[in-house]
Amino acid sequence: MWSKIVTRRVFFKVRFCSSLVPDEPEGPCVLTDVPGPCSRKLKKDLGKDQYAGEVTLFGNYQKSIGNYLVDADDNVLLDMFSQIATLPLGYNHPELLKLFQDDKKLKTMINRPALGVFPGEDQPKRIHSLVSQIAPCLPKINLMMCGACANEQVFKNVFIAYQRKKRGQEGFTDEEKTTAVINQPPGAPNLCILSFCGGLHGRALGALASTHTKYIYKIDYPSLDWPIAYFPRYRYPLDENERENIEEDKKSLAHVEELFATYKKKETPVAGVIVEPIQGEGGNNEASALYFQELQKIIKRNNAYLVFNEIQTGGGSTGKFWCHEYFDLPVPPDAVTFSKKFAVAGYFHSDELTPDKPFRVFNTWMGDPGKVIILEAIIKVMREQDLLDNVLKVGARLKCGLVELEEEFCEIMDSVRGVGTFLAFNIANEELRDTVLHKLLRKGVVLGRCGESGLRLRPALIFQEHHADIFLDILRQVLKQCK
Ligand SMILES: Cc1ncc(COP(=O)(O)O)c(C=O)c1O
Repeated sequence: MWSKIVTRRVFFKVRFCSSLVPDEPEGPCVLTDVPGPCSRKLKKDLGKDQYAGEVTLFGNYQKSIGNYLVDADDNVLLDMFSQIATLPLGYNHPELLKLFQDDKKLKTMINRPALGVFPGEDQPKRIHSLVSQIAPCLPKINLMMCGACANEQVFKNVFIAYQRKKRGQEGFTDEEKTTAVINQPPGAPNLCILSFCGGLHGRALGALASTHTKYIYKIDYPSLDWPIAYFPRYRYPLDENERENIEEDKKSLAHVEELFATYKKKETPVAGVIVEPIQGEGGNNEASALYFQELQKIIKRNNAYLVFNEIQTGGGSTGKFWCHEYFDLPVPPDAVTFSKKFAVAGYFHSDELTPDKPFRVFNTWMGDPGKVIILEAIIKVMREQDLLDNVLKVGARLKCGLVELEEEFCEIMDSVRGVGTFLAFNIANEELRDTVLHKLLRKGVVLGRCGESGLRLRPALIFQEHHADIFLDILRQVLKQCK
């Protein structure tokens, strides 16, 4: 199959390298404009029945393999955005392909039970195995449907625990029961979640109240009066801007303190803080370990809870399984949410955040056992192929290459940042950034946007050094054209 596609026209000759996924093509191969005529027609067809405004191109997921996305026009694209930072093992990984040939696993997948009420008999073992293998020092897990769903539900765990501290062990009053149903206090109390400018936590209404990236996600929707704190905006390179960046940390922390006080005064205390260890869509915005240590102290002083949103950072692309492991926190956070690379969404949380009654944190499916089977296989491959190590090695090569390009094209490229392969850089302005993105696509490389004028790299964990070289070579050609 591959020989047929790649011999038609290969853009970049690459020396033979062994790939972590067998049968990967040697490089990108672009045959048409991207999106090509087939993708454009399919978009028109889909648009007749479903809003398709966001569609970039159509994939051929039979042919896509490893780090290469094959589109409907047979273009072979080096995919460094991995379906919006998902796909840890790329496309059609052999270990995942064989999973559902096992009859037991197939039946677990197709008879998708409502896990909250009728879990399969193998569920306790499965969940225990997950917690013991990947939990970030937190004893409990709760599976959900998507990132926004995980964040919204964990807010409820936070509110339950906050109110329980206040109420003690006494049960609900009659007044609480009747007012809860009609959205009034004391049953529906005035509490809030603090989030940060540039943070993204999802597009369902509750999660959206804590999302502050693009107006298009929010416009026309009523929202909650929840506090939004300033998030540090670092200058790069970090070692040349230490003093300014420490000031950024201080500015953000002072704002958090101020908002805790303001909302307490308004009698809508902050029950929890949600934060991404590195803001993803908001711009790959980092903050120091010291910053997060201080943030945790402020939260604890105010009897609130810290939730790390590791939906984009979790699962290995920073070179650690959980990005917040870089922060050396003296005690674990109260909850950590996940999705994307985990195949299934959900969160880990402390014992204190466990609900005390059924149906307080609930939905029909409570995750998906089929996706848990995929997650188990992902973790196994990550271990066997030492993929965290691979990410660190490849990430170093990518970053070094990007810094060299930044020096060569300093008038249009700056602020290379991030850890592992969770990297980004800025282009001089939004319009030029979009031009670079489209030119890359037409040369067979898929990247994602972030922040005002940033481009983010979100390759799979199986992305290797020879892929990095192909990418850097193509990026250099594009930057030369845009100079
Ligand atoms: C950090 C973060 N949180 C939450 C979400 C929302 O996840 P979903 O789109 O699965 O609801 C995203 C999605 O991009 C994300 O990057």
